[in-house]
Amino acid sequence: MQLTLETERERGLRLIDEATSVEALDAAVTAVMGRKSAFSEVQRGLGGLPAEDRRRLGLVVNEARDALRAAEASRREGLQRAGEATLLAADRVDMSLPGRRPRAGSLHPLTLVEDLIVDVFLRLGFRVAEGPEIEDDWHNFQALNIPLDHPARTMKDSLYVAIPGHPELLLRTETSAVQVRTMRSQPPPVYVIAPGRVYRRETPDATHLPVFHQVEGLVVDEGITFADLKGTLEAMAKELFGEGRRVRLGPAYFPFVEPGAEIGVSCFRCDGVGCRVCGNGWIELLGAGMVHPHVLENCGYDAERYTGFAFGMGIERVALLRYSIPDIRLLVEGDSRFLAQFGGAA
Ligand code: PHE
Repeated sequence: MQLTLETERERGLRLIDEATSVEALDAAVTAVMGRKSAFSEVQRGLGGLPAEDRRRLGLVVNEARDALRAAEASRREGLQRAGEATLLAADRVDMSLPGRRPRAGSLHPLTLVEDLIVDVFLRLGFRVAEGPEIEDDWHNFQALNIPLDHPARTMKDSLYVAIPGHPELLLRTETSAVQVRTMRSQPPPVYVIAPGRVYRRETPDATHLPVFHQVEGLVVDEGITFADLKGTLEAMAKELFGEGRRVRLGPAYFPFVEPGAEIGVSCFRCDGVGCRVCGNGWIELLGAGMVHPHVLENCGYDAERYTGFAFGMGIERVALLRYSIPDIRLLVEGDSRFLAQFGGAA
């Protein structure tokens, strides 16, 4: 029995030492000290021995068990530590790798141009006004002195919205509707700039989109003259296209202004000589005029006391010119190779 105990002790210590996982360690301990092990069999046999042998062998058993338990505990601790080290190694972050650069977006060219225009007018003391994109016939047409038989009212140019119980709703065809909304909501004086989206029944091509942007300007005060209109637009043209720009006025008809004018800016490329950008030296940029007395009256303003000017400009057109973009559709295609070129540009 003593011999068995000694060999089993040696075998057990070896098996425990060789265990490379917690599972293998458990198996080794069971094999050496489990209920069916030779070790346990000897232990059970102790009871049938004479007292002297039982005492002596009992000591050997206890000593062997203590040695095996101690070996098991230290092996178990070693395995746990190794396991943690493996986990830590797997989780290790390699700080020497270059970081992944986030792909930063950039402002859309239309946003850049709109911000630029708004900024010019904020510095002139204007505030920004807004109106709904779904308008009613009165704000979009009637209040703007657009008679029933005006071509702008026909289905050809306008996009109507079918909402039961709300006849005569349409997607606004020009930001001029914001003139009406602004004057109806406040007494004069008015100095506002109103950028926004407008809609027309157009087939997209290189210079047209059915959804585009305009910026409306409106000034109403005592003593406002055509000279104020020209001076204001000249200041804007210089800010947008360079210090040397001049503006010219030509006659134009818009029902809500009288007189009405078409405003051209001397070409920023050839300075009025004539080139591929402008043709004849001038770039027609916007419509403008003195606010029609009917419009002032429709909005409850005293047309004897107040005068004003208004203008409306297409934002896409300014962006195409400013950045030499050859086709307006590029602005809405969402091609990141196009858009990425405007990162940081203004
Ligand atoms: N609303 C006109 C257009 O869309 C532009 C305009 C605005 C003209 C204000 C005169 C005054 O063409």
